[in-house]
Amino acid sequence: MHASSRPLALVILAAGQGSRMNSDLPKVLHQIGGAPLVVHAMEAGLALDPARLIVVTGHGAEAVEAAVAAHQPAAVCVRQNEQLGTGHAVLQAAEALEGFEGDVIVHYGDTPFIGSETLDAMRAARAEHDIVVLGFDAKDPGRYGRLIMDGNRLDRIVEAKDASDEELSETLCNSGLLCADAVTLMRLLQKVGNENASGEYYLTDVPGLAAAEGLSATAITCDEGETLGINTRAELSNAETLFQARKRAEALENGVTLTAPETVFFAFDTYLGRDVTVEPNVVFGPGVTVENDARIRAFSHLEGAHVGARAIVGPYARLRPGAELGNEARIGNFVEVKAAEIGEGAKVNHLSYIGDAEIGGKSNIGAGTITCNYDGVFKHRTTVGRDVFIGSNTMLVAPVSVGDGAMTGSGSVITSDVPAGDMAIARAKQANKKGLGARLMAKLRAQKQAKKGQ
Ligand code: UD1
Ligand code: MG
Repeated sequence: MHASSRPLALVILAAGQGSRMNSDLPKVLHQIGGAPLVVHAMEAGLALDPARLIVVTGHGAEAVEAAVAAHQPAAVCVRQNEQLGTGHAVLQAAEALEGFEGDVIVHYGDTPFIGSETLDAMRAARAEHDIVVLGFDAKDPGRYGRLIMDGNRLDRIVEAKDASDEELSETLCNSGLLCADAVTLMRLLQKVGNENASGEYYLTDVPGLAAAEGLSATAITCDEGETLGINTRAELSNAETLFQARKRAEALENGVTLTAPETVFFAFDTYLGRDVTVEPNVVFGPGVTVENDARIRAFSHLEGAHVGARAIVGPYARLRPGAELGNEARIGNFVEVKAAEIGEGAKVNHLSYIGDAEIGGKSNIGAGTITCNYDGVFKHRTTVGRDVFIGSNTMLVAPVSVGDGAMTGSGSVITSDVPAGDMAIARAKQANKKGLGARLMAKLRAQKQAKKGQ
């Protein structure tokens, strides 16, 4: 059977502390593009449709497990209570791999940029070899393990700490990723000891043990950029910069106009359709999709939102989770939308808060309108029908509904439902006092003069 058609299990190592981050947060929960590092590692693997996804946790296990479950409920987390080395870490997955027949790819939770294509290439190379290691040509090999090759066969991996000078001169380095048949891998790991410079059980002993048994091991390579691991805050921010550069390039490639690409920030899952325009200084948090021909104007912030085709958002707009804009909807400056559907062609153009609401197609929401959705304890819904005209500065005190084609007078505080086609006015009646304005002003000015004279 062709190796790449065998079932695949992904084992992601995420038990390490990451002490050099100098953080209370486990290293793999630090974020790039709005997603934890461990989620980036999972995402690349998920594209290969693995039959099992196992994450080895240790430091900050509960928090890491919660993040893993939130992103991929089917993932299984196993604990490594003491961090005795990468080989020991993989062994913790033995039980979760029980009964599994197929290949395992071992991946690291702090290595966010390995692409699915690279994982797939490792899997394909399994057709010819029992063990496949992912290597790269290192500009500065430093602390990396060295791949000692014999032709295209991998003889063994030597950790830098244990290497001879001759071995250290090798620049082909270990990324850490490895692919092998699950049963073979677990069997070889049982043989791994800890008699080395670190006193750790090295995953990297596996190829040498395999070769000694007459099994074949090889290495394939990827670009060094892909193997970038995160150990410090400086590396994290550098990785964020690289990630953003890649997302911007991808957007441009996919037919998105970015007028100032370097000022637009993406999340790991931002989707922008064809001919979308994004003006300067826009931030996309997680979970945003924007349909074709929409325009996101300058200084807008979007997260968990869907923007329909040809809609216009901003400048200075904020779309929060659950904002659903229909085609051709318009959200203008200083408008915040949360958990609300804005119907096709509806407009909320100035200074509004629309939360827990539904606004029907073609309705116009006047400047300063607010859905008063929160009573201090509970949230309530506002429903506005189609072709409604909400006057400026209307307070819609939820739960409340305004029927199709209705209107509200400016400054109204709407506390009861407005039937379709009606006009609701809920404000104090205006009274004009003949000449009082001029008389009052004259009196006040006289008082001021008198004070000056004292
Ligand atoms: C490892 C490799 C090295 C390779 C390098 C690439 C080994 C012995 N060495 O070294 O050849 O060049 O990665 O970056 O594998 N982890 C656990 N439990 C443990 C130990 C580690 O879960 O007990 C996790 C860490 O959280 C991390 C990953 O495994 O995500 C790698 O561990 P790390 O200590 O960084 O290994 P390196 O010394 O970098
Ligand atoms: Mg490391």
